Amino acid sequence: MSDPLGDRDRLPFVLAQAAEAATRYLAAIDGERVHGGRVEEAAAAFSGSLPETGDGSAEAIALLAEEGIAAATRSAGPRFFHFVTGGATPAALAADWLASALDQNSFSWVSSPLGSRLELVATGWLKELFGLPPSWGAVLTTGATMANFTGLGAARRWWAGEHGVDLDEQGFGGLPPVPVLTSGYLHGSAVKALAMLGIGRARIRRFAADATGRLDRDAFKAALDQLGGAPAIVIANAGEVNAGDFDPIEEMIELAHAANAWVHVDGAFGLFVRVSTGAAELARGVEGAASVIADGHKWLNVPYDCGFAFVRDPELMHGAFKFAGPYLPIGSDDRPSFADFGPEASRRARALAVWATLRAYGRAGYREMVDRHLGLAREVGAEVVASDDFELLAPVRINVICFRYRPLGVPESALDDLNRRLGAAILEDGRVYFGTTVYGGKVAFRPAISNWRTTAVDADLIVAIARELGESLAASR
Ligand SMILES: Cc1ncc(COP(=O)(O)O)c(C=O)c1O
Repeated sequence: MSDPLGDRDRLPFVLAQAAEAATRYLAAIDGERVHGGRVEEAAAAFSGSLPETGDGSAEAIALLAEEGIAAATRSAGPRFFHFVTGGATPAALAADWLASALDQNSFSWVSSPLGSRLELVATGWLKELFGLPPSWGAVLTTGATMANFTGLGAARRWWAGEHGVDLDEQGFGGLPPVPVLTSGYLHGSAVKALAMLGIGRARIRRFAADATGRLDRDAFKAALDQLGGAPAIVIANAGEVNAGDFDPIEEMIELAHAANAWVHVDGAFGLFVRVSTGAAELARGVEGAASVIADGHKWLNVPYDCGFAFVRDPELMHGAFKFAGPYLPIGSDDRPSFADFGPEASRRARALAVWATLRAYGRAGYREMVDRHLGLAREVGAEVVASDDFELLAPVRINVICFRYRPLGVPESALDDLNRRLGAAILEDGRVYFGTTVYGGKVAFRPAISNWRTTAVDADLIVAIARELGESLAASR
């Protein structure tokens, strides 16, 4: 097989082949170990030099399905509790397949009216879901890192404008450093975005009251006061990765506004508490910020990759990201070119999956799922508290449970090493999947529940399997 043109008639067959493999994979996923077993074998099967003459699509897809499925991490399944990872709802997955088949380029209205229209509707629904004003600008990105980049890019434009400079035209020359103030909860992706924007990692001032990173309100306020009205950027964190805590967002916004600062909220997963029945208070006041972001491939449970950026003043997005050329169409409010609102030009039609999952399950469906996850996390936390061999290190505020193994008789000085070894054993075992972090100076676990498939059957295994593996580690010493 050489020219793909010769493969045309085989298309229905290979699509059916892929659908059969995916269906088989997902049918078994609930009970399988999370790590893919045959990683090295798959790597060997995929390697070799570039074929001069290809095998044809059926052969290539058969090999990919067989070896790829054997090697794949079951992160789409219900027991992947590492990081904060969602799966893909049935509606989102099917819509994402269609996005590939339709192969829409969602950069402009002209290239894909369908993609642009669905992105307008889907981002409108997301604003409704999160309680953000409909007048805000919004764009789908590859994830929360690029959503942070987008929101902070608008912030950077605003900041330079306060100094009388159009930074996106003129660059930074002659401008002072950009003050960035936040708590110790800042996520690495916002740090990366600040570096990419040329603001610089070293400009970040973290006001942490203790080793957990909790905001030191007094120091934060004093630093804002010291700026004397000079423009600045404040980043508030809605959902910190170690223990799911929130900055006091409303208070930070109030202080920042009094001091002439832009507030950007990183709510990669935490923004979803605004959908919940009982935890929405944690993200109170978010609508008072200037930019807010969240992730789609986390708690919305759409396939990778998908994030959302929302900016109060859409003109600032357009100013930062405008994309022009004599052959390029000019967008309008009703017929938008989303390439003008975010970092990418050619773009996957991510809106199909976002629209489909919101259409399929609605606000009530998401509320039920988020509430279920919050309830499961609370139950795991209660189990930890009731045990005499585990220690809860922070209250369970949302879907993250921060705890460590602390069997009787093991001295404090040995706990970090024990928990690190137990973390490695959990990943190696694979019946549940979560790693370690360092929280308040202690090595800890931080499983997060955010997959639509996860039920009590899965969550109940978190402590049980950690205990079983912990006891066998202790016995082997
Ligand atoms: C709070 C927070 N912000 C940003 C990110 C980055 O998200 P992404 O990997 O989608 O770029 C994450 C990812 O874990 C996160 O937890």
